[in-house]
Amino acid sequence: MNDFVTRPHNGPPVEPGALSELTWRDAQARDAGAVATAIDEWWPGRHIVHGVCPQLFEHLGDTSLIVEDQGELVGFLVGYLSQRVPEAGYIHYAGVRPDWRGQGVGRETYRRFAAIVRERGRTCIVAETSSWNSGSIAFHMRFGFTLEAGDEVVDGLPVHHDVTALGFDHVRMVLRLEGGDG
Ligand SMILES: CC(C)(COP(=O)(O)OP(=O)(O)OC[C@H]1O[C@@H](n2cnc3c(N)ncnc32)[C@H](O)[C@@H]1OP(=O)(O)O)[C@@H](O)C(=O)NCCC(=O)NCCS
Repeated sequence: MNDFVTRPHNGPPVEPGALSELTWRDAQARDAGAVATAIDEWWPGRHIVHGVCPQLFEHLGDTSLIVEDQGELVGFLVGYLSQRVPEAGYIHYAGVRPDWRGQGVGRETYRRFAAIVRERGRTCIVAETSSWNSGSIAFHMRFGFTLEAGDEVVDGLPVHHDVTALGFDHVRMVLRLEGGDG
């Protein structure tokens, strides 16, 4: 297991040994296929499959997380340090296999990503999710993210219009890291 800091962040601390049967590691180019398949099968996320490519994992994979149960993918978080926004880490997408949900895997991947970006001097994390994805929005807000203002409020959500015109409006969420001092 990688020895990342697992600082609690707006959730209960991870118990020693909890989730310890899982392997947590960074992402390699060879993981791209399994992640693309997972996005297709685990939730209606086909519209973001274009964001999976081996080069992304090869060059930015050291800030991404792969979670495996005996070699089988059960979770992932693809994130990186923003080049344009020097204070921000960015979560491109993340997912947990349906039968592993509700057991803290998502929270632990986010906690580890927060530790990674904090160690690298970043003070916030930015994430986006489709405005229809109420479960994802609830998960992020439970972790401590707040919703940023959007182009308009739709059903109570500050929605950013889809610039690709593929039909996926999104919400933008920000998590301030405590003190940003690692
Ligand atoms: C969103 C997702 C990553 C959450 O992963 P998870 O492992 O089930 O989440 P956890 O078990 O760590 O839950 C952490 C907290 O969030 C809450 N939460 C998680 N999913 C939730 C949901 N759908 N609705 C409301 N709350 C939710 C949990 O109740 C828990 O709260 P607690 O601190 O009170 O215990 C997972 O449901 C998933 O893969 N969804 C499909 C992919 C997706 O939408 N990804 C995000 C956009 S790219």
